[in-house]
Amino acid sequence: MNSIEIEDSLGLTICMKQPVAIERGLGSHVWDDKGARYLDFTAGWGVTSLGHSHPVLVSAIQEQAAKIMQNPNSGFTYSPVRARLLTLLQEVLPQGLIRVFFANSGAEANDAAVKLARKVTGRPEVIAVAGSFHGRTLSTLSLSGGSDNAAKYLPLVPDNSFVPFGEIDALAAALSDRVAAVILEPVQGEGGVRVPPKGYLKDVAALCEAHGALLIADEVQTGFCRTGSFFAVDAEQVRPDILTMGKGIAGGFPFAAFALTEAVAAGVNKGDHGGTYCGNPLGCAASLAVLRYLLEHKIAERVTRMGQFALQHLERLAQRYPESIVQVRGRGLLIGLQMHSDAQVSELTERCLALGLMVTPTRNAVLRIIPNLLITKDELLGGFETLESALAVMCSRDSVAA
Ligand SMILES: Cc1ncc(COP(=O)(O)O)c(C=O)c1O
Repeated sequence: MNSIEIEDSLGLTICMKQPVAIERGLGSHVWDDKGARYLDFTAGWGVTSLGHSHPVLVSAIQEQAAKIMQNPNSGFTYSPVRARLLTLLQEVLPQGLIRVFFANSGAEANDAAVKLARKVTGRPEVIAVAGSFHGRTLSTLSLSGGSDNAAKYLPLVPDNSFVPFGEIDALAAALSDRVAAVILEPVQGEGGVRVPPKGYLKDVAALCEAHGALLIADEVQTGFCRTGSFFAVDAEQVRPDILTMGKGIAGGFPFAAFALTEAVAAGVNKGDHGGTYCGNPLGCAASLAVLRYLLEHKIAERVTRMGQFALQHLERLAQRYPESIVQVRGRGLLIGLQMHSDAQVSELTERCLALGLMVTPTRNAVLRIIPNLLITKDELLGGFETLESALAVMCSRDSVAA
């Protein structure tokens, strides 16, 4: 059997025994170059929010591409589609986040958020959370508390520190008047789908305010209905000072954004941030199509329902296979199966792939299930049956060996 090594978005090396060349996708499925079909429980790292090649997204991109893809003197010239997107974003962003910058990737949005937090506060330090993931640029890598990868690129950006996940007292002890910002994911994705204790985010926001530090909510993975509310901070009624977005924002087109409160925006001047492609019409058209679809079809509510449905089924699976699954957790359609070891996760991933199901291994022995937001109950059940078949083989093999 052929074997290749790939690096996932965390730098984990996964040995894929069956390299797959994906030729096309539609909805919840993808097809390889030999015509074999796979059910996609990865949504391309949580990006293809409407499924693969959704006709609404495809035609929005085609129409915009035929009109204009990049404005002359982009940023200085008015773009109707960008204006429409900005207007609609105001409807979904937590109240008070009034100024939006566009970017091309989640890491870039986080990088800019931290940069501007330093400028606006005039302070040098940033606090992040153990187990977090904020991207792969030097500054975001320096703030990602789950990656031993960072050791390869020393020296990292200085003046960052990490606090333990979900522990408010540790954050209270770490904050000082040198801290520009606290950056966190409302639900940790790459770190193993970890949901902080109830009330934690609110307490973090209050502590940040008391110390004059900005709260940056990294909603690159959790945003755009992934966890059942438009943004994960909505579920806790928390309004961060800066909110970063990516992945599902444009359903597959590389696009990202970050939003600032009026108070933060007041410290940002023309020229402080920007980029050649930021807010280009093509990305804006894709994002606008996604946003309209999510709103018109009430996808946040759908995700809550489907997430509960999925969790119930997976919990039953966990009861049947305790030798493999320790815990099922998550919010909305961001779900993690905590297994006993990374080796189990790798084997399960591999076995699922052989049976036509794609899942994502992530850190700390967690298998992540992060399908598109329009996935049907039948598709979910089909995927869970495949998971069960793979688990059954692993467990019967292990019980024979014992
Ligand atoms: C929470 C979070 N922030 C930032 C990023 C980086 O986004 P990108 O890969 O688009 O740079 C990721 C990617 O997985 C992420 O999950």
